[in-house]
Amino acid sequence: MKEKRPIIALDFASKGEVQSFLEQFPAHEKLYVKVGMELYYAEGPSIISYLKDCGHSIFLDIKLHDIPNTVESAMRVLAKLGVDMTNVHAAGGVEMMKAARRGLGSEAVLIAVTQLTSTSEEQMRADQNIQTSLQDAVVHYAQKAAQAGLDGVVCSAHEVALIKGATRSDFVCLTPGIRPAGDDLGDQKRVMTPAEAARIGSNYIVVGRPVTRAENPYQAYLAIKEEWAQHS
Ligand code: C5P
Repeated sequence: MKEKRPIIALDFASKGEVQSFLEQFPAHEKLYVKVGMELYYAEGPSIISYLKDCGHSIFLDIKLHDIPNTVESAMRVLAKLGVDMTNVHAAGGVEMMKAARRGLGSEAVLIAVTQLTSTSEEQMRADQNIQTSLQDAVVHYAQKAAQAGLDGVVCSAHEVALIKGATRSDFVCLTPGIRPAGDDLGDQKRVMTPAEAARIGSNYIVVGRPVTRAENPYQAYLAIKEEWAQHS
């Protein structure tokens, strides 16, 4: 099952900036947005209530990683807030991921971060003392997430086939690093277009700057949404 709307990364520092951005969309256009650490820590849970009151769906991207009991309690709070999706670090282990699932319940989508894309294989070996290839480490964590009852992982669109092959075909792959053809890459290195991401089986795409920094964000969003839905 694929979400037909791209998830817009609200990488803004305050509610005011979010409001100015969202004012450029008609009220009837219900969005799926990603709230990250900066915005959530700046504004607190009220930013979630505000976005929900506007009718938007929410992926709260705050990557929990702590002892199982703490993560379970925190997830219970997030479930009450009504987030539609959130995530944890798979490095927290199977017990922590199971606890996260228990706390969040089964209504919201729960995914894991495997290795951050900012981590190189050399850094993983040196800092985490994981002596496999980066790809093997990503697959291993994806399998642990599946075993713990999570719905899927955040991954590069280039890893979707590998991860689904190593877990199951309906294991959710949420992929950032999406750029419409010809768009500015920013600091992203390995990107895919919405159409390519749809074709290779990505379940959700996350798009930030191609929409948030567009001259006309609504038009940019509609073009990406149409391309994504058409090829899904
Ligand atoms: O602006 P852009 O489309 O590059 O934004 C992508 C969003 O996805 C940002 O919020 C970024 O932090 C997030 N992200 C990513 N790569 C990952 C995980 C998350 O770009 N591996």
